[in-house]
Amino acid sequence: MFKDLFVTKPVQPAGHVDAGEPVEGSLQGEGNLKRVLTARHLVLLGIGAIIGAGIFVMPGQAAANHAGPAIMLSFVLAGVACAFAGLCYAEFASMIPVSGSAYSYTYATLGEAVAWFVGWSLVLEYLFAASAVAVGWSAYTISLMESVAVMFGSDWKFPALLASAPVTYANGKFAATGALFNLPAVLIVAGVGYLCYIGIRQSATANAVIVAVKVAVILALIGFGAAYVNPENWVPFIPEHEGGDRFGWPGVLRAASIVFFAYIGFDAVSTAAQEAKNPQRDMPIGILGSLVVCTLLYVVVAAVLTGMLPYTELGTAKPVVTALERYPALGWLKFAIEIGAVAGLTSVILVMLMGQPRIFYAMARDGLMPRFFGAVHPRHHTPHKATVVVAVVAAVLAAFFPLGVLGDLVSMGTLLAFATVCVGVLILRRTRPDLQRSFRVPFAPVVCVLGALSCLSLVGFMGWYNWLLLACWTFAGFLIYFGYGYRHSKLRQH
Ligand code: ALA
Repeated sequence: MFKDLFVTKPVQPAGHVDAGEPVEGSLQGEGNLKRVLTARHLVLLGIGAIIGAGIFVMPGQAAANHAGPAIMLSFVLAGVACAFAGLCYAEFASMIPVSGSAYSYTYATLGEAVAWFVGWSLVLEYLFAASAVAVGWSAYTISLMESVAVMFGSDWKFPALLASAPVTYANGKFAATGALFNLPAVLIVAGVGYLCYIGIRQSATANAVIVAVKVAVILALIGFGAAYVNPENWVPFIPEHEGGDRFGWPGVLRAASIVFFAYIGFDAVSTAAQEAKNPQRDMPIGILGSLVVCTLLYVVVAAVLTGMLPYTELGTAKPVVTALERYPALGWLKFAIEIGAVAGLTSVILVMLMGQPRIFYAMARDGLMPRFFGAVHPRHHTPHKATVVVAVVAAVLAAFFPLGVLGDLVSMGTLLAFATVCVGVLILRRTRPDLQRSFRVPFAPVVCVLGALSCLSLVGFMGWYNWLLLACWTFAGFLIYFGYGYRHSKLRQH
């Protein structure tokens, strides 16, 4: 039985694919999704998934409580860890262009039980992140609607009964909010879920429009905000350590583990590998291209924000708006930022809700999840049943749960998947040197080891309660695996 748990899925060498030419997945028994995405779509999908709450919500608290102006450095450190992992994803996604992402790569290298663990961790990443970001979307949208009402001279307020979950979680305690459920969060998940159901091409087109809006708004923030930067606000760059993870180097590293959330999503590009026209060439472009663009934007936005306001004043839920409110001449930009944030958070939800069903699809095709999840719509060519299940669960979570507390958990699940992918590249280089790799990680042993170590050390900076939650999550996952997946695995039935 022990050996059974580590059985690996054979990789078939992927033939060269020309643009537009349909190919089957290169893992045994996968196929059926439609290949329509180009390199441009993939870069835009990456940016769509990456830029969201991580830049519009999180850097304020991280700068005010942990890193000060050195939040720029925290973004660089988290970006470097992601770059290592991104290179490894690029090698895998171009070599095994299937929809299961890290789950499929792990199945091919470290075996079934570890693959299940990674697939189960990815649920934390995609499904929970979609719900958490939907809650953030709701807050920004309500504030935007109320600003519009004010512009028209009305004092209309969104009904508080439908504006949030019935409970909140702060300072280790749950408290009643008096609300019934979060209606806007449910509506956005339902709308985006519908898009994911009807087609990847429609989803990608909607994503491209949204990305254009959010990047334009961020560039405007950089361009106009730069004029109000006071370099004195950057001194001291790393505030003196106050104990624990407050400032000093420990603070910079803790902030890196928080803003890591901002980078989550570049890997979602790899879940679309089975729908890319020319995955061998375009997957590395999509993954690494989106990562580079976002890292640059993040570091510059962090510099502008901490330059516009002393870091001590940035600790709000909307740090960008807080910085702009200080300068009345930039009042118009505040409205644009709110629109950009709503757009930005929408595309994150979109790509996360696209990614999760594709992971389930791959797991179902392997027999580790019920066949239902592997069904593909005959006309839309999407994993439609899995999409409906994922959207319903995400909507329920977003409606009733205070998901702010889950941000770190989302990051932990993701970091574990990244570390496994880094190790997987080295293993497959050794076990299957014959496979055609159209993209190879440069200096692989060094990059892969550094990638795994940097991801694991970021996990180390998460609080103990997150470890406890992760342990419970993993335990539940293995109960399901031994209750269903282990007995239905197709690989073992051959
Ligand atoms: N990177 C995504 C965000 O920041 C998850 O919202």
